[in-house]
Amino acid sequence: MIIKAITFRDNGFLTAPFVFGGEEGPEKFVPTVKYRSCLTNYLIDAGDEVILVDTGLPAGTPEEAPDENTQVYTGQDVCSYMDALAALGYKPEQVTKILVTHRHIDHTGELRSFPNAQIFVNEDETDAEEFKGLNNIVPVAFTDGPYYNFPESQKIRDGVYYIRAKGHTRGTSVVVVESDGLFYMLHGDVTYTDEALYVNRLSVVYDDVVAARETLDRVREFVQNHPTVYLSTHTPLGRENLEKKRIVDLNNPPETLPVGDVVFKTATGKYVCSVCGYVYDPAEHDGTPFEELPDDWRCPRCRQSKDKFNKA
Ligand SMILES: [Fe+2]
Repeated sequence: MIIKAITFRDNGFLTAPFVFGGEEGPEKFVPTVKYRSCLTNYLIDAGDEVILVDTGLPAGTPEEAPDENTQVYTGQDVCSYMDALAALGYKPEQVTKILVTHRHIDHTGELRSFPNAQIFVNEDETDAEEFKGLNNIVPVAFTDGPYYNFPESQKIRDGVYYIRAKGHTRGTSVVVVESDGLFYMLHGDVTYTDEALYVNRLSVVYDDVVAARETLDRVREFVQNHPTVYLSTHTPLGRENLEKKRIVDLNNPPETLPVGDVVFKTATGKYVCSVCGYVYDPAEHDGTPFEELPDDWRCPRCRQSKDKFNKA
């Protein structure tokens, strides 16, 4: 079984409040901290059939124009989803199954472009607008029982499992592909970034926050106990994980992840000038966080630049 990444937007960003703020509240996170973003869906080449997991954005979806207030910028078009698929050497007619992680348009955009495919959708959201008028939907009731620590699953074929994982939307599902002793988890938007998986935080987008927490707990438990390659949609780490067969180790985040110090606004928010010892306290500056001071701000005592300051 071969998994391939289909990237159709790249060089975007997601801000910390958006990707971490689901439970604590977005205001707790530093808005200037940004994580790389893209749009990548995946294909499973099983030898005797081609299975898609999600189907991108509809062709012709306009690019966004980010500004300083943008929380989510999905990036620039690489090409259309269908062109990205063609570039991998596949024709729409070859696709026999589509497994939908959830209804959102950046995951369901080209569902109508595959004449020979059955479209598997969690029964809890087959009534969503995105599926209207499609006559090849297979509602999934997850009748095959538990898949490891997930209580409900449907076996799609040997080594391919569709698993109930609601929260982000009421009908979110994740796909696990077992291949060569590894578990490839194609999870849609359980997290938008891998950083959120490592620091155990929910994004601000969910239909049901209690269910989303339960799902993230299950995903983290699963990856603790099985060698898992985590395949995300909205971060280029997804395709990098695939290329490197990088196995999630929750205790050892990849070095590219700025886990820890940049996630929260510090409790005091104080910063100290490393040259003269001046303490910047937001409470004395109308509550303005140090991180939000302009780039040309200078130490009022010794005129050093912002980069000479350290967290108190
Ligand atoms: Fe989504």
